[in-house]
Amino acid sequence: MSYSYSDPFPMRVLTGIQPTNVLHIGNLFGALIPALELQKENDLYMMIADYHAITVPHEAHALNESILTVAAAYLAVGIDPTKTVLFQQSQISAHTELAWILETIAYMGEAKRMTQFKDKSGDKQDNVSVGLFAYPILMAADILLYDAKNVPVGHDQKQHLELARDLAQRFNSSHGQTFVVPDPLICKHGARLKSLTEPDKKMSKSAASAKSYISLMDDPDLIHKKIRSAVTDSQQLITFDESREGLYNLLTIFSLATGRPADEIANEYIEKGMKELKDNLSEVLCSYLLPIQTKMKKLLGDKQELTRIINNGSASAKKVADAKLKEVKKKIGVIL
Ligand code: TYM
Repeated sequence: MSYSYSDPFPMRVLTGIQPTNVLHIGNLFGALIPALELQKENDLYMMIADYHAITVPHEAHALNESILTVAAAYLAVGIDPTKTVLFQQSQISAHTELAWILETIAYMGEAKRMTQFKDKSGDKQDNVSVGLFAYPILMAADILLYDAKNVPVGHDQKQHLELARDLAQRFNSSHGQTFVVPDPLICKHGARLKSLTEPDKKMSKSAASAKSYISLMDDPDLIHKKIRSAVTDSQQLITFDESREGLYNLLTIFSLATGRPADEIANEYIEKGMKELKDNLSEVLCSYLLPIQTKMKKLLGDKQELTRIINNGSASAKKVADAKLKEVKKKIGVIL
């Protein structure tokens, strides 16, 4: 897998997923798998970003379930809680406290420029929560608290990472070296999976139609149906060409699920046609997801054990976060 960032000795790595709605293959290939690949040689922190999930209306029971589902997904792909710190953001009050401190140095203008805020608030900017507006600053706090150097994310989070970098640099230049300036790790492929129904848009958890994404928990029948109805174009030949958005997306998914280069797959199917490509893609995707799904179901069957793992990880993350917050509070002059 190739990254846009090329530090040969990455140290601390942190990433997070919001427990909202379903997890889809964009989350899997954009962030989870790239983070997993760094688990062996790095100090990895995997966060369940539950305070991010309450920036839009939510139902308490569903959030509770989603927190456990994200933890189960982390573990099912291979995150080892004895090597990696798997933790829940809301258990560590340093996140919201540092977010407040960073809000005092963040500019309204830079927060207003966040395209995700513009997309999510649409035309009702006066009726969305202040939390949704301040969300990228909480995300900066999530990262800066842990001195994370590398942050594997999908392309949609790049702008938020740039803000985190700006805030780290701004704080460091006013108060002296305090924060590590983080780098986004954006996977060359997989960082921008597109909607199956509208391939000019990203695959998204909050999309109106469930046909637009493949959830980690979709069964084989549903996966076949969704891939079969995925929007492509009317050209006959199969080619790996970015301008053919729907087909490009399907070949990218095929490549991610098999580890084979997408152009090689395109060549193999060049004359076989779309139907065969879609049928075979469904099969490889089902086989790829099956072991993850089986493990997730098993893990979700023992919620007590899952909770124990989350609480353990949160207790060790808290030590790191509290120490950094103390350093920050000293620097800004609130510790007597
Ligand atoms: P979230 O929960 O929306 O998405 C989790 C991760 O999945 C990536 N992703 C995608 N990658 C490829 N193709 C897609 N279609 C796609 N959709 C989503 C996202 O880029 C993300 O990496 N704000 C973050 C969560 C967060 C976080 C953090 C991440 C909170 N604090 C600190 C890193 C570090 C979010 O909402 O991701």
